[in-house]
Amino acid sequence: MEVLTENDAAGGNLGGRQIVILGYGNQGRPQALNLRDSGLNVAVAARPGRKAWEKAESDGFEVMEPQSGAASADILMCLLPDEVQGHAWRDYIEDNLPKGSAICFAHGFAVTFGQIETGEYDLVMVAPKGQGGRLRSAYLEGSGLPCLLAVEHDATGLARDIALGIAKGLGCLRIGAFETTFREEALSDLFGEQAILVGGVPALIKKAFDLLIEKGFSPEVAYFECMHELKIIVDLFSLHGLSGMREVISGTAAFGGLKYGERLVTEETAAEMRRIFDRIESGEFARVWLEEAAGGKKELEKLSEREEELTIEKAGREVRKLFTRGDDT
Ligand SMILES: NC(=O)c1ccc[n+]([C@@H]2O[C@H](COP(=O)([O-])OP(=O)(O)OC[C@H]3O[C@@H](n4cnc5c(N)ncnc54)[C@H](OP(=O)(O)O)[C@@H]3O)[C@@H](O)[C@H]2O)c1
Repeated sequence: MEVLTENDAAGGNLGGRQIVILGYGNQGRPQALNLRDSGLNVAVAARPGRKAWEKAESDGFEVMEPQSGAASADILMCLLPDEVQGHAWRDYIEDNLPKGSAICFAHGFAVTFGQIETGEYDLVMVAPKGQGGRLRSAYLEGSGLPCLLAVEHDATGLARDIALGIAKGLGCLRIGAFETTFREEALSDLFGEQAILVGGVPALIKKAFDLLIEKGFSPEVAYFECMHELKIIVDLFSLHGLSGMREVISGTAAFGGLKYGERLVTEETAAEMRRIFDRIESGEFARVWLEEAAGGKKELEKLSEREEELTIEKAGREVRKLFTRGDDT
């Protein structure tokens, strides 16, 4: 796959275009700051009286109400929560955004699952591969995060250049952009979250922790083994790959892991993974999540509360205090 870098962004000079950040949160704030520091013309759209408005104002941005923000945007960065974007499209954007403007997303969810359908605007995506805080700190270090870049609709003939210009302004082209489609990004991102990142891996951790507790181990020891050390290993995956990781761990760990670890992932696990993928691909997951959001996210709240009460969470809270001792930040 071709990796796009700053050399590919020649046509993506956004000088003079008004960029408006709608959604000044986890992604919105770092994106706004990076784009402004890259010399681009950035304003923020937020709800009056809310935290995002206050924060953007104290960061020195011109802040407008969402409808006015949309009306003044050449490039509207749609950085609201995914479940809100369909409402925002109807309430703020479709009657106000000047035709020929671009809407830039950080995730393909709303467009892929039919929350936003339009042929009148450039629809592009620049999805940094990481959390907003890291996007900002990498930029300040003179580096960046890689990103996925896509064009869903090219109304003006300039959509790809605009996406490249945004990726450059965010610092992502210092590392590289990978071209994809909204659909590929949305499906793979949701699948990765559910099967691995915030679904499968936490579930595995909890089961292993519970087993050690059942065998009489102390919660602290079980926490170190099943949770704390994971980060050290994941950092090795990320820096050196799976084989590279094995070169720096003990032979005992490498042998035990290779010989027995695979047995945990059975045909039934693979079948469940497939069901997770099918549910995402068919749009069933999006439907369930949007319904959950419309109903006030009660199930999410209940599931989250249940997690907070788990022994692993209680043990973790105590152990992590040790790491923050003397750290008054
Ligand atoms: N979180 C990440 O690190 C990450 C990583 C990659 C991609 N993304 C993508 O980036 C996008 C934004 O996600 P996020 O996590 O940054 O969102 P977020 O922080 O949860 O929310 C962004 C802001 O939206 C505002 N908001 C919420 N509902 C609103 C409404 N109805 N009208 C106007 N403003 C509203 C909130 O401000 P107020 O409540 O103060 O008004 C909030 O600060 C999503 O597409 C997400 O998939 C996120």
